[in-house]
Order: sequence, then C-alpha cells, then structure tokens
Amino acid sequence: MQQLKICGGRRLVGEIRVSGAKNAALPILAASLLTADDLVLHNVPDLADVRTMLKLLSGMGVRVERNGTDVTLNAGAVTSTVAPYELVKTMRASVLTLCPLVARFGTAEVSLPGGCAIGARPVDQHIRGLRQLGASVEIDHGYVKAQAARLTGAHLVTDMVTVTGTENLVMAAVLADGVTVIENAAREPEVVDLCNCLKAMGAKIEGEGTPVIRIEGVERLHGAEHTVIADRIEAGSFFVAAVVTQGDVLVTHCEPRHMEVVLDKLREAGAQLNVGADWVRVRMTGRPKPVSVRTVPHPGFPTDMQAQFMTLNCLAEGTARITETIFENRFMHVPELMRLGAQISIEGHTAIVQGVPALTGATIMATDLRASASLVIAALAAQGESTVDRIYHLDRGYEHMEDKLRSLGADIVRVNA
Ligand code: UD1
Repeated sequence: MQQLKICGGRRLVGEIRVSGAKNAALPILAASLLTADDLVLHNVPDLADVRTMLKLLSGMGVRVERNGTDVTLNAGAVTSTVAPYELVKTMRASVLTLCPLVARFGTAEVSLPGGCAIGARPVDQHIRGLRQLGASVEIDHGYVKAQAARLTGAHLVTDMVTVTGTENLVMAAVLADGVTVIENAAREPEVVDLCNCLKAMGAKIEGEGTPVIRIEGVERLHGAEHTVIADRIEAGSFFVAAVVTQGDVLVTHCEPRHMEVVLDKLREAGAQLNVGADWVRVRMTGRPKPVSVRTVPHPGFPTDMQAQFMTLNCLAEGTARITETIFENRFMHVPELMRLGAQISIEGHTAIVQGVPALTGATIMATDLRASASLVIAALAAQGESTVDRIYHLDRGYEHMEDKLRSLGADIVRVNA
C-alpha cells in the first residue's frame, strides 16, 4: 500500500496547470457508446477512475487508443452490454454506461453500485427516468437489467438534483423517439460539457446549465472531437493549499467562471486573488478568516470542496460552521484532522470548526477522494512530518498531485509501506 510522507510548513510558491475534469471525462467517455464512429477526446486526465472507465468500455468491445491526454474511442463493434460488479464496485460512475447502452443497443446489464463511504447514494432516479422513457427495468441478482426496443421521449422530473442521474437520462434521451424534458436537472459545468460533446455528435439539446433541459431525440449520432473542461475541484484544492501555506500560487488552464462561489469564499477568508480568463493567482499572508459554507448543487458551494474548506477553517482565526446537505456521511475527515490538532465538533449535518494557530504532523488515513485532498492540504500546513495512508483514494481523482505540489516547493514523497 502506498503512502504520502509530507514535511509540512513550507510556503507553496509557483505555477501549476490544472488537468481535465474527472467528472466531465467519465460521462463523456461513456457517451462513446452512443455512436459507431470515432469519438476523439482531448484533455482526458490520467486518473485511476478514467482507467477504470476505459477498462469497462474495452470489456464491452469499445476500441480505445490512448496517447497521453488524447483518447480515441470507437464503439462500432460492441460485443457486450454488461457492466460487471468487479468494476462498478470500484467506481460508481460506471453506472453512466446504463443509459447509453439501452439507448443504442436496446439492452443493458449494469451492476448496482451499492453504498459507498460518503453515503447510501442510490441510483433510483436513473432507473425511474429510464422506465419513464419506456424501458422495462428489473433488479436481478444485484444487476439493473434494462430492455427497450426504442426509448420514447417523456417529461421527467427528478426528486432531487442529481448530477450523474441527469447525465444518464440526457444520454438516454438523445437517441429516443420524440422530445424529452428533464426538470430539476443538475446545472453543474460537467453536465454542460457532456451536452456540448453530445451536440458535437449531432444531438439536439437545449437548456443545459439551467434546471430544465430539452432534448429532441435523433435516429443516430456521429463521431466528434471534443476537449474536456478543466477540473474545477482540482483547481479549488490547489487554491486552498496556497491559502493554508500562506503561499503565492498561479493556477493555469482553469475556468474561473465555474468557480465563482469558491473564489468568493477564498476572498472572504482573506486571500488576495487575481483572476484572468483561464488562470487564477492566489496569495495569502497570515491566518485565514473563518468562512462558513453550506454545500448545495451548482451554482452553490460544491460538496466536493467541503473537506478542503474544513482544513482551511481548522487554521482560521475564529469559528466557522460547515453544513453538508448533499451526502449524509461526508465528515470522515474530521477525526483525521483532529489527529493533527484541529478542534471540530459535529452537530448533525454541521461541523463547528474552531481554528487553531497551528496543526502538528501525524499519521492520518484517507477515507474518500475529497477527504484525502483535505488531509494532504492539512499536512502541507502542519508542523513536522505527516504520513497519509490509503492514498489510492487520492489517485482516483487527482493527476500527479504530489508532483504538482513538489513543483510548488512542497516536501512530499510517495513511499511503499
Ligand atoms: C456527482 C459527482 C460527485 C459529486 C456529486 C455531487 C461524478 C462522477 N460524481 O456524484 O463528485 O460529489 O455529484 O455534486 O460526477 N441520489 C439519490 N438517487 C439517485 C441519485 C442521487 O437519492 O438516483 C442522491 C444521492 O445519494 C445524493 C444526492 O442525490 O445524496 C446527489 O447525488 P448525485 O448528484 O447523484 O451525485 P453523483 O452524481 O453520484
């Protein structure tokens, strides 16, 4: 098992480039199933989750060619419409193959993802929407088994805002017969990026980025070339790392307009920001001011930045309240941060963080993807050495994180335990 050894207390200074967005790349890779032609993608990050999706698609007979961040996929000779448990259990986003398979091939067997560390995370909305589009869906031996001659357009209203649910249903509707309207749709930039890619493939979609998406189904989609958007969560994680180490970091190739709330919260914390068209420079002197946040769907404060802002508040001059409304069990980083000397108490869905002047190094354990980032950031600011265990969580979603941090002056190495 690999670990990160971090000697904290160094200011991060320099320039780093953000990678392509994991959460945009995954649905777009799944969208390759919707056409027999080549889908040529750029800026696909080299991450464990991307490798899992490519393995899943290859197992279905999709031809995959990868050259760095360029990936070409061809689903002209699909041999299987099954997403097996072994792959789905390592990555819930595998469920994004469900609707493209049914839409193009009329059949799919996709393992139910089950719960995960941060919550139960059911996929009932994906299934209900697919049924409303005319598929017959049953759960059998832990698999979602869906059949449809051709899906038909329908009016869908999801019970809650769901990101992958919206993406799956859009991918069902693009090849359906007639018009589909999805109300209460997720507005995340990653949903918009998927829709832009689908439109380049010939799909007819309006309203992406708003709560109502209208899709007019077409007979078939064709090949396309698309560049994946920048990862706003990776960028945000580096911003917070710059703040807590009282550093000066220029983050390039990012999309500041996707991160307005996060940038506002950083300003509130006392960071000095310069914002360009595709870059942000973050400078910080002194301890941050406390910033309370409440996670909500986009354009509100993202749940995927909650743990990193918890770390920021651990070092703030004062008390902040962090309320998590999206996932029921997303405070697992709290006991780990407390091992570094943080003062945090939990009341229901709210963590009350009383800032301390300094954290001190310790051995800590990553529990999920974004929690791992918050722990690495905390260790960068802590006095002395920390060991972060179970970093396979980090590798799911951050491309070469320790190399990027080292280039900013961090003392961080990966070791085999
Ligand atoms: C996506 C992101 C994840 C992010 C999350 C919220 C990807 C690959 N992952 O996850 O990084 O943290 O959005 O921004 O894009 N729900 C149901 N039934 C459903 C679907 C969702 O009850 O059928 C619930 C979930 O349990 C959760 C809430 O709705 O409480 C939002 O989940 P959702 O937006 O679907 O998260 P994901 O798409 O899984």
